[in-house]
Amino acid sequence: MTAVARTRSQLEAARAGWTEAGESIAVVMTMGALHAGHAELIRRARERDERVIVTDFLNPLQFAPGEDLDKYPRTFAADLELCTAEGVDLLFAPGPSEVYPAGDPIVRVAAGPVGDVLEGEARPGHFDGVLTVVAKLLHLTAPHRAYFGQKDAQQLWLIKQMVVDLDLPVEVVEVPTVRDDDGLALSSRNIYLVEADRAQALTLHRALEAGESAASNGAAAAVAAAKAELAESGVKCDYVVLVDPESFAAMDGSGQAILLVAAHVGSTRLIDNVRLRVGSGHR
Ligand code: PAF
Repeated sequence: MTAVARTRSQLEAARAGWTEAGESIAVVMTMGALHAGHAELIRRARERDERVIVTDFLNPLQFAPGEDLDKYPRTFAADLELCTAEGVDLLFAPGPSEVYPAGDPIVRVAAGPVGDVLEGEARPGHFDGVLTVVAKLLHLTAPHRAYFGQKDAQQLWLIKQMVVDLDLPVEVVEVPTVRDDDGLALSSRNIYLVEADRAQALTLHRALEAGESAASNGAAAAVAAAKAELAESGVKCDYVVLVDPESFAAMDGSGQAILLVAAHVGSTRLIDNVRLRVGSGHR
């Protein structure tokens, strides 16, 4: 059974023995409501590292007033079961007063310009909240490697950049998005989708596939094809954009790219992305 730590000292006590034995430690950070996407992160961690810590902390700092913090799914018993089934060594599940003992932190990590666009434009302050808690959880868990999903592409880019810019001693490992058989990218928020929404939600994946198919004809063609797919289904599109994976800047040339989409399905806002090659006739 996976051990549970609720406090910093319980976490420290658990990892002290591992450090002494020279074992490599991985962390998989989550906000709970674990699903097969998290299980994949854990499996990847277990393949490479001797000890795996999963953090389960619903971080209030990354939710703006009026967002879904209050209704975010809380499924601790099932999360612990998944961790146990996947062989996780420790589930670190602190409350807000353990992570932020002095209340909301005055000093935070600033995500910079990439934190203000796309998801950051829709959710002001979100990425400062994400990076602040990720930095704190990295300090507390002190892992050799941290595993994050490509599903949250902008978050992943910002975490990797923070690790470089702030010289954090950890290797970030990115793990491809896990999808249901029908293509829907797994997300804890999929729980909000009622039956009719779910069918519409598949449009995001179809839009990305359409974009991918058109990518050999250039950036504009890829974006247009994805937008056309979304328009046909009637979902409210927030953005469809191609970015350079290195800089996360919008790109209109050719080369490796990430095609990102955000759309509202019912009352749920969903995001998805695919990595592709633009131009030169290749996928
Ligand atoms: O991706 C998430 O679940 C969260 O943003 C993270 C990285 C655990 C930080 O709270």
